[in-house]
Amino acid sequence: MPPNPDRVHYPELEEARVGWRWQPPADCLDGRTIVVTGAGAGIGLTAAKTFAAHGANVVLLGRTRAKLEAAFDWISANTGTSPVIVPCDLEALSDDSTQALHDAILDAYGLLHGVLHNASALGPRAAIAHYPRDQWRSLMAVNVEAPFVLTKALLPLMERSGSASILMTSSSVGRQGRAYWGAYAVSKFALEGLTQVLSDETEHAGIVRVNSVNPGGTRTAMRASAYPAEDPSSVPPGEAHMDLYLYLMSDASRGVTGKQFDCRSWTSPD
Ligand SMILES: NC(=O)c1ccc[n+]([C@@H]2O[C@H](COP(=O)([O-])OP(=O)(O)OC[C@H]3O[C@@H](n4cnc5c(N)ncnc54)[C@H](OP(=O)(O)O)[C@@H]3O)[C@@H](O)[C@H]2O)c1
Repeated sequence: MPPNPDRVHYPELEEARVGWRWQPPADCLDGRTIVVTGAGAGIGLTAAKTFAAHGANVVLLGRTRAKLEAAFDWISANTGTSPVIVPCDLEALSDDSTQALHDAILDAYGLLHGVLHNASALGPRAAIAHYPRDQWRSLMAVNVEAPFVLTKALLPLMERSGSASILMTSSSVGRQGRAYWGAYAVSKFALEGLTQVLSDETEHAGIVRVNSVNPGGTRTAMRASAYPAEDPSSVPPGEAHMDLYLYLMSDASRGVTGKQFDCRSWTSPD
């Protein structure tokens, strides 16, 4: 069912739309099914609400059930779409749980049009010389291994769709390393590598496109934790970036693969 613009009530998105570089059609994700990791808070929650507001059925994956339920309630009340929630700790993702997710999406929707790999841990801000090994491992499991195993499990469902988009969430420190950003920065470099390898492998078939996006400083709990002295109102809310997320998730970006995007400096195709 196409989204009913009269039913979608998302004032923060409407406010941000004025500054967008690309104006998406209201139904640009109509009937699509998209997995969003870290969908309970921050940019992931904003993206999940935005995708649903543009017609997508979203699979809300995250660690805290109560946050996912709140996202589910908002999407159900404000859009005409059918979300589902998948509470799951990405650090402990097993082959059994990814297979169960694959099977559940197959049963519910039959195929998959996109995955936004957004969930991420920040980890300690420490010099490499002092970085705790256990925290390095745990961060790499969430930020790198989870996107890999999820992608591997869900690729067959994306290939069935005929046109699908995988979006890896990077960071400025994943493109130029910086002191004391430790495993977080290294994990984002790894995601850029995963983007390049996978896009090279899938480009020929032309069904699945794979790109990375750097949101840049955005008003979320992670940003506040990384920059505790910063005035949150000095950085944009997630809604400000949603034109790029919609562009990359919708068929407007068909054929675009293996590219690095930056929310603050991208050039709209129109
Ligand atoms: N905000 C920025 O300024 C900024 C800048 C550059 C890049 N980024 C990137 O943008 C993405 C989103 O960041 P954000 O600022 O929105 O972060 P955030 O506010 O900390 O939200 C992160 C989300 O990921 C989930 N998550 C974390 N660890 C998880 C785990 N082990 N299993 C399942 N879910 C887990 C969290 O779930 P719970 O809430 O349940 O813990 C939360 O919903 C990240 O990849 C980040 O690296 C952000």
